[in-house]
Amino acid sequence: MQPSDLCYLNNASVGLQSPTVSAHLREWLEAEMAAYPRQRLESAIWDLPTKRTRLATMIGAPEAQVAFGASTSQLMAQVVGSLNLAGRRLLIAPGEWASNVVLLRRLGGAPTRNIELLATDANGQFDPAAIANQIGEDVAAILTPLVTSIEGRRYDVETLGNLPRPAHCPLIVDAAQGLGQSDIDVRRFGCDVLVATTRKWLRGPRGMALLYVSQLATAMMQPNPAPELAGLRLNLETQRFDDLPQARRFDASDVSVMNQVALTAAIGELQQITLEQLQGHLTTLTERVYELARDRGFRPLLQHPESGIATIHLPDATPLRTRQKLDAASIVAKVCDTAAEPLNIRLPATGSLLRISPHWHNTLDDIDRVMAALD
Ligand SMILES: Cc1ncc(COP(=O)(O)O)c(C=O)c1O
Repeated sequence: MQPSDLCYLNNASVGLQSPTVSAHLREWLEAEMAAYPRQRLESAIWDLPTKRTRLATMIGAPEAQVAFGASTSQLMAQVVGSLNLAGRRLLIAPGEWASNVVLLRRLGGAPTRNIELLATDANGQFDPAAIANQIGEDVAAILTPLVTSIEGRRYDVETLGNLPRPAHCPLIVDAAQGLGQSDIDVRRFGCDVLVATTRKWLRGPRGMALLYVSQLATAMMQPNPAPELAGLRLNLETQRFDDLPQARRFDASDVSVMNQVALTAAIGELQQITLEQLQGHLTTLTERVYELARDRGFRPLLQHPESGIATIHLPDATPLRTRQKLDAASIVAKVCDTAAEPLNIRLPATGSLLRISPHWHNTLDDIDRVMAALD
């Protein structure tokens, strides 16, 4: 539980696990200890398909097209490593997460100039007419985050996904900052791939992530570069191992039972709160950050908050000084490193960037407290 003197406002890095989820974990551990060794047998066949069904339903995907892995980055690497990108153009949103960009540079083949930014308007949002002109037969893939890590921008992925693109060009959405706070429907997004971690806005387990791959994208992929037996089938005729013709070719061969218990509880908790109420609460808190920041002469990065992330620019404070002020007031929030979004030229190069990412447990008093700490 959150100690009364600690104010946790860094849910965009790691969501603060709710006491309800912790209680479920404790109950499960106690039951397992009490029933030893029978319970361990039950654990060994723990019901992963149920988790898959629930998450698949949450994102509007068929369950065979959903896989589990350890992190967003790991699943992204497996997917991108299975695509043929060399020598063709890649269109990427300016707010793309650094490790995805590095991955593309490594796998996209020379020359790296094949990476091109998706066109945006004066506010930093997609410019659909200009993007339509960018998309040609020589584009190998389009990548975008759903919600960006630093600005907290909610890209208009639906519009992007509805633009015509060649059949060989998947739209790959990084929803690490979206799952649990944004309504996700892969059909509405028109995307071919979606990756997300469970540890942030869903406040679920760490070390767990999910992947959606459309059937079309699965069919165009080369063999999974990091195969595990869970995703392979022996072809009796050829005596070769083939990848399953489903997203499940990317499944980890083992998924922590503790994580599955925590995930079930976290999904249950969100369903009780409802996404709509959570979004309303987050908007109240992030709008307060923007309002108080402007009163103090700091600049919020967007005109209005677009997610549970409110990031403000403190032009005269070094990152170290900002961190010291937060520490002194027992506040946990993120002083951003702009290297996390290396293509985002809208980010300021001097001063410090403070990201405040509240969740259900936070109140307006918490926001007042963090802003007072910056005086
Ligand atoms: C947009 C985005 N993508 C990817 C990641 C990395 O996620 P993971 O640690 O699960 O690889 C983050 C982490 O903050 C993120 O914000």
